[in-house]
Amino acid sequence: MELILLGPPGAGKGTQSKFLETRYGVAQISTGDMLRAEVKAGSPIGLEAKSIMDAGGLVSDELIIRMIGERISRPDCAKGFILDGFPRTVPQAEALDKLLHETAVDLDAVIELKVDETVLVERISGRFTCAKCGTGYHDSFKQPKQAGVCDICGGTEFVRRPDDKAETVHARLEAYNAQTAPILPYYKAKGRLYSVDGMAEMDDVQAQIEAVLRQIGVAAG
Ligand code: AP5
Repeated sequence: MELILLGPPGAGKGTQSKFLETRYGVAQISTGDMLRAEVKAGSPIGLEAKSIMDAGGLVSDELIIRMIGERISRPDCAKGFILDGFPRTVPQAEALDKLLHETAVDLDAVIELKVDETVLVERISGRFTCAKCGTGYHDSFKQPKQAGVCDICGGTEFVRRPDDKAETVHARLEAYNAQTAPILPYYKAKGRLYSVDGMAEMDDVQAQIEAVLRQIGVAAG
């Protein structure tokens, strides 16, 4: 299965693609996670990306395309992959087409998660994760069962993404509307675009995505 999950910041791409990774046995590839790992490691890519990410802008197409080209050639992608956060510009979408063509792989679907902007801001600005195991929580929607203690690993340290500050979230939404939304007609013209209601409960969004996958003949692994 080769799938793209597309949607604005906070639409639920990470949440849903992690579920699909387990259910369908294919690699989840998040360019945001890859970049955050580079920033944490203090690598040259991380140094180039950090200030752009902190300001809510998009990292250069050239850097991202190079990173993805290397990533999808790894053995864990042999059975397929779910792209979360890539492509994010039309040149990235064109570069992906070229990469897939070279390896004779066909894209199954691009699934758009549709969510209203006010909900996105609320979702992102309340989000935090366990520093030890990465489990995600939310100030309003999903608090740890015992305050200050991770449900999964018992960790007591939590972190918030630097780009989840309200003012940066608005810059990220602007970048989505200006640079990423034009990808939607690109994939629509290719007959690959499907949309689901990302405002629904998480389980319901999952069910909608699975219905699309069944419709196009993709079975769980
Ligand atoms: P990235 O990490 O990709 O961030 P993003 O696209 O802004 O998306 P998020 O991770 O914030 O949200 P999400 O859609 O995954 O939602 P989530 O499941 O977490 O990118 C970060 C930065 O890296 C970019 O700004 C850019 O600088 C750079 N970058 C990355 N890729 C790039 C590229 N290709 N080109 C250039 N630059 C690039 O959910 C959010 C919250 O909502 C969570 O708290 C979750 O629990 C909750 N939630 C999810 N679903 C539901 C639901 N149905 N109901 C209620 N709550 C829900």
